[in-house]
Amino acid sequence: MKALILAGGKGTRLKPITNTLAKQLLPVANKPILFYVLDQVIESGITDIGIIVSPETGNAIKEAIADGPEWTAKITYISQPEPLGLAHAVKTAQDFLGSSPFLMFLGDNLIQGGVKAFVDEFDSRGPDALVLLKEVADPRFFGVAELDASGKVMRLVEKPKEPKSNLALVGAYLFTPEIHKAIAQIKPSWRGELEITDAIQKLFDMGKTVQSHILKGWWLDTGKKDDLLEANRVVLDDLLKPSIKGEVDSKSQVAGRVEIREGAKVENSTVRGPVSIAQRCHIRNSFIGPFTSIGASTVIEDSSIEHSVILESSHIYRIERLVDSVIGRGVELNKADERFKAVKLFVGDDARIEL
Ligand code: DAU
Repeated sequence: MKALILAGGKGTRLKPITNTLAKQLLPVANKPILFYVLDQVIESGITDIGIIVSPETGNAIKEAIADGPEWTAKITYISQPEPLGLAHAVKTAQDFLGSSPFLMFLGDNLIQGGVKAFVDEFDSRGPDALVLLKEVADPRFFGVAELDASGKVMRLVEKPKEPKSNLALVGAYLFTPEIHKAIAQIKPSWRGELEITDAIQKLFDMGKTVQSHILKGWWLDTGKKDDLLEANRVVLDDLLKPSIKGEVDSKSQVAGRVEIREGAKVENSTVRGPVSIAQRCHIRNSFIGPFTSIGASTVIEDSSIEHSVILESSHIYRIERLVDSVIGRGVELNKADERFKAVKLFVGDDARIEL
C-alpha cells in the first residue's frame, strides 16, 4: 500500500497568508498541518509516500519536510504543473502509484485519531474505494455522499447547491488501481477541475464496489481563516502536551495546559492555556489567553491576545485586545501614541483588517 498526499493547489481562500506560504505548511498548535498528515500516514503503517506539490510552493514544502523530524518513510515528490483537480493530481502521480492500492490524503485536512482504522478496514473488506464521511452542518462546500437505508453509497456529488444529505467527503480516500480507469473517463467539472468525487461516482457506475466509513471524531478542513482558528482551538484542546522548556519569571503566572518551547521567555505576564509558545518568543507585560499559538521568535509586549494564531518573527506591541486573528510572518503590529486617533497602515496585497 502506498500513500499520496496532496500538497499542491493555490490556497486562494487563505490569502494573503498563502501569497507567500503553502497552505499545508500553516501551523496548527505550532506544527505544520502537513506534518500531522505525514504522522498519521506513517502511523497507519504506510512507508512509501508520494507528495503532490505545485511549482510555486514545492521547494518550501520539500525544505520544511527536510528540516522537520526524521520521517520513517520514503518520500517522493511529484510536481503537478497546474492545480487541475484532485483526480488530476492522481493522474499526475500514476507512475509513482503503479499498480498499488493507495491512501489519498489531502494535505490540509486534520482527522482525529488518524487513518489507521480506516486503512485496516480497507484491507479487510477489500472494496475498490473506501471513502470517509462526516456529518456537517453545511454540506454545500464539500463533496457529498448519498447513502441508501442500509448505509450503501448510492451517489456522490461535488459541492452540490442543494445537498441531498449532510454527509461530506472527508479528505482521506482509499483506492485500488481501478480508480485510474475511472479517472480516464471523467471530464472537468463546472469549476474546470477533474474531481475525485466524479471519479468515485464513475467507479460506482462501472459496477465497482464503493464503501463508506462514517467518522465519529472531529475532522478539520483548514481551508479558510476561521477554519484555521477552529483547527488551532481543537488541536490545542485535544492534543497539546504541557511542557515548560523556556524561562518564566517570578512575576508571571502560567495556568492550564501550556507549552513554552526552548529559548522562549515570559516576563511579568499571564499565560492561560491551552496555549503554545514556540522557541525564542519573548512575551513581556502581556496576557496570552486560551486557544492561542505563537510562532517562533515572535515578540509580544504590553498586549493581550486570545484565540489567535500568530506566525513566526512578528512583533506585537501595545495592542489592548487582539482576538480571533491570524497574523502572518514578520508582521509589525503596533498601537501608536494615545493622543493620535489616526490609523496608520502599511499593508500588503489581499490583507483583511477589521478595526
Ligand atoms: O476537504 C474535503 C474536501 O476536499 C472534499 O469534501 C471535496 O469533495 C474535495 O473536492 C476537496 O474539496 P476542496 O475544494 O476543499 O479541495 P481543495 O481545492 O482545497 O484541495 C484539497 C487539497 O488538495 C489541498 O491541500 C490542495 C491540494 N490540491 C488541490 C488541487 C485542486 C492539489 O494538490 N492539486 C490540485 O489540483
